Order: sequence, then structure tokens, then C-alpha cells
Amino acid sequence: MYSFLNDYSEGAHPKVLKALIETNDEQSVGYGMDDYCQKAKAVIQERINNQNADVHFLVGGTQVNLTFISYVLKDYQAVIATDEGHIHVHEAGSIEGTGHKVLVAPHHFGKLTVENIEKIVKSHTDEHMVQPKMVYISQTTELGTYYTKDELEKIYAYTKKNGLYLFMDGARLGSALVQNDAPSLVDIAKNTDAFYIGGTKMGALFGEALVIVNPLLQSDFRYQMKQKGSILAKGRLLGVQFYTLLKNRLYEEIGEYENQLAISIRKAFEEKNFNVFCPSSTNQVFVDISKEALNEIEKEFMVTHIKEIKDNVIRIRIVTSWATSQEQVRKLVHLIHQL
Ligand SMILES: Cc1ncc(COP(=O)(O)O)c(C=O)c1O
Repeated sequence: MYSFLNDYSEGAHPKVLKALIETNDEQSVGYGMDDYCQKAKAVIQERINNQNADVHFLVGGTQVNLTFISYVLKDYQAVIATDEGHIHVHEAGSIEGTGHKVLVAPHHFGKLTVENIEKIVKSHTDEHMVQPKMVYISQTTELGTYYTKDELEKIYAYTKKNGLYLFMDGARLGSALVQNDAPSLVDIAKNTDAFYIGGTKMGALFGEALVIVNPLLQSDFRYQMKQKGSILAKGRLLGVQFYTLLKNRLYEEIGEYENQLAISIRKAFEEKNFNVFCPSSTNQVFVDISKEALNEIEKEFMVTHIKEIKDNVIRIRIVTSWATSQEQVRKLVHLIHQL
């Protein structure tokens, strides 16, 4: 069985692994104070064209979200997300566990809109309610769509005007960065207070790079990290990986590769008139299919069952990664054509 379950089903991209092996015997100081973390930080600052941004390397996505969001918000403040948002659905209430409410808005193709953010802001009128203070979005979204540059600018402008912070979860940022109308790293740094560049789902063995752009949110963050168990003693493993991914655009190459494979799978479903849900050119494909068709697919491939849409129709998710085999994609496309 070949797995299309996820983009973290394999280890690390060979170039990342090579860099880890080549530096394996070196001795370095711990906790992210080593030369590789400094080099990776410098590359990120250069690529976002902002020398004043702070960069921190953490191990996983949930960890970044809860460490950063709970650092920014005061006890009575809350964060806004979509009803599909990762912090709302898939993080075991980690944000609520730190004492902050997640205020949920209906998604529009997986995305928050200014209108939906505003409805929440306006309905929280005084100190008898929590105070919405942060907007959380993810790029790409839980439904495989992405915010265009224009959409991001509009949301950021709204947050600034209304005293909110904007935080972007970039677990799969590379899949979005290579889209023509998506914001570049420079655009993201100009239009968020903080964001993270995901590594775990983008060819790293593990790791996420949190970029804090807003200077007001930078001081003492390492104390918060340490208290939340978010500083890795062998921090250089993160520096080595992010330096390798970002110095020569390997990160974007991975995004391009996985997207192209997903596009050919999506196209095959569309050609057979299946309902592709929230179509988009990223590495996640959502499609509604009958149980019979699913049975055929599952004779050879593993896919994620998202939910039963109606009688005999299941929404499934297929994900490609840096390691997805072109041969297996050809087999899957062939099988879809036979359905
Ligand atoms: C958008 C998004 N954010 C955060 C996470 C959480 O990452 P982790 O499982 O490393 O905690 C995921 C995981 O799938 C994700 O898709």
C-alpha cells in the first residue's frame, strides 16, 4: 500500500539529511545559540528583507501555536480562527488549555474574511466578554486553499485598524509560496505580526521557524519558550535544517514538486467529474467519492477519510510531499481514470 495520507509520512529530504550527517560530529553550544541557528536566522532575515525580525526555532506546529499565542495574549484576551482552523479543531484545546478562548468564524473556502472577523469583533462589546486580540490564519489552510496577497493585505489592514495582532501558521507555507498570486515571504513579513515557516511538512525531519516581526512582541520570548518546553537542547539540528531548506530555495522547490503532483491527481478526478472540494493548486486534494470508488482506490493506496458527506459519499484527502513517488502518482491517476 502506498500512502497519500500526509506530507510527514517520510523522514527528511536527502539534502537536509546530508547536512545533518555532515555536521553530526561537530560540537556546538546548545539551546539555539549555535552558529547554524544564527546562519538560518540571518538567511530568514535576508529573505524577508527585515533585519529586525526575531527568529526562533521550535520543534512542532502545535508547540509554536500555543507558545506564541499564549505569550501574546493577556488572560482575558482571545484569538479568532475559522471553524476549520487547526488551533480550533486539531490541537486538543491547547490554546484553551493556556486560558484563552478560540473565537470561531465560519470559513470561506477554508479562509477567514474581514467580514467574518468583524462580526466577532463587533459582537464582543465590553469587559463582560473576552476581548478578541489576535487573528490566527494558516497558509495553506486546512482545506488546501491559500490566502492571496490581496486577501492577506486586507486582513492585516483590518487588524491594524482595530488593534488586533495577525499571526500566520505556515505549517505548509512552501506549498503556498510558489503560487503566483500568493504573498511572498517579504509580503508576509510586511502583513503579519508574526508567522512561522513550517519545516516538518516541508522536507525537514522536524521543526518550525517562528518569525516575530512586530518589535512589541519580541522581548523575553525565550523565557516563554523555555517555560513551555519549547527550546530544544540540541537546537542546532533545527538551524542546520532551516539553513539548508532556505539558503538556496530548496523550500520552494519542494513546494513546486508536491504541488505539481497534486495538480495531476486533482485533474484526473475533475476529468472524471468527481466533486473536488475547495479546488486549489496546493499539495492537498479533497474529493467527494462513492464508497465503491474509495474501495478501488484503497486496494492500492492509503488516503484520509475526512467525513461522510451523504449516503454513500465520502470526502477524502490526498496529500503529496517532497518524497511522493511520480510513479505512484501515475498509477493513482491511471486508477482514477478507470473508476
Ligand atoms: C496548519 C497546521 N498547523 C499546525 C499543525 C500542528 O503540527 P504538529 O502536529 O507538528 O503539532 C498542523 C499539523 O498537521 C497543521 O496542519
